Amino acid sequence: MLRDIQDEIIRLKKENDVCILAHSYQSESVLEVADFTGDSYALAKQAAKTENSTVLMCGVRFMAEGVKLLCPEKKVILSHSMAGCPMAEQFCAHEVRAFKELNPGYAVVAYINTTAELKTVCDVCVTSSSAVKIVSKMPEKDILFIPDCNLGAYVAARCPDKNIKLWRGGCPIHAAVDDSEAKAAKAEHPDALLLVHPECMPEVVELADFVGSTAEIMRFAKESDKKEFIIGTELAILEHLQFACPDKLFYPLSKNLVCRNMKLTTLLDVLACVRGEGGEVIDIDPETAKAARRCLDRMIELG
Ligand code: 13P
Ligand code: SF4
Repeated sequence: MLRDIQDEIIRLKKENDVCILAHSYQSESVLEVADFTGDSYALAKQAAKTENSTVLMCGVRFMAEGVKLLCPEKKVILSHSMAGCPMAEQFCAHEVRAFKELNPGYAVVAYINTTAELKTVCDVCVTSSSAVKIVSKMPEKDILFIPDCNLGAYVAARCPDKNIKLWRGGCPIHAAVDDSEAKAAKAEHPDALLLVHPECMPEVVELADFVGSTAEIMRFAKESDKKEFIIGTELAILEHLQFACPDKLFYPLSKNLVCRNMKLTTLLDVLACVRGEGGEVIDIDPETAKAARRCLDRMIELG
């Protein structure tokens, strides 16, 4: 049954010239029908290169908007119209404009988890895997980093020559895990390495053996000689790793690390999208698109 749906998706995506991009937080069955999978940086870079006339993004809204900004001539579909990222909407463009008026020397760095509208007033985008590299290459010393203050604190600690101002935003799922959970998981699995996403709280990041994006965590666990790992990011990553490395053991940092928005997309949604019947076609007005694209181009250039 599952295999039949997947076969039909694969047939239809070829027939209708659709490229399927899927973020690593999607289920195994969705990843299996995708042309490319990975973290948000890898998907953005892939989107810029893809040759198909339609791109289906299995992920959340800011990711599909990012594809549309990079490929305005293509039809871009978000796999489920309700799949948003709460962090992407935590600040408005007018708040950033007001900050810039008061602090004209500051460059504004936007985590890619932001709306297209917010990107219009920012100078460069970063992802969790490219943030340190990009910020350290920027000529400006004074930086406002939005919206994730945990990722921002992680970057600030690694770029000591920069003056980084943070606002109080972040991922409600990663930020909900506290250091007592991290200590308890380490005590329960003393031989396991703790791998965490930089969206986690600084006190959790401090206890980690490795900090990285979703793709970096997966690469580290696959290549490591160690056999046990506590995974400090969305539970899908733990499932994919357990599937890819059956000889290793993976434990959740917290059972609450579930992004409900990422979980909205099912294989049947993907089927409806490749049939041209489901999801949401992303449309961004040309003025917003032109202004927002600058910071994605700069991300790719500096990253
Ligand atoms: P990545 O950059 O690791 O893909 O993270 C995106 C995200 O939304 C993590 O919660
Ligand atoms: Fe957004 Fe957090 Fe979900 Fe990532 S895990 S998409 S940051 S809500």
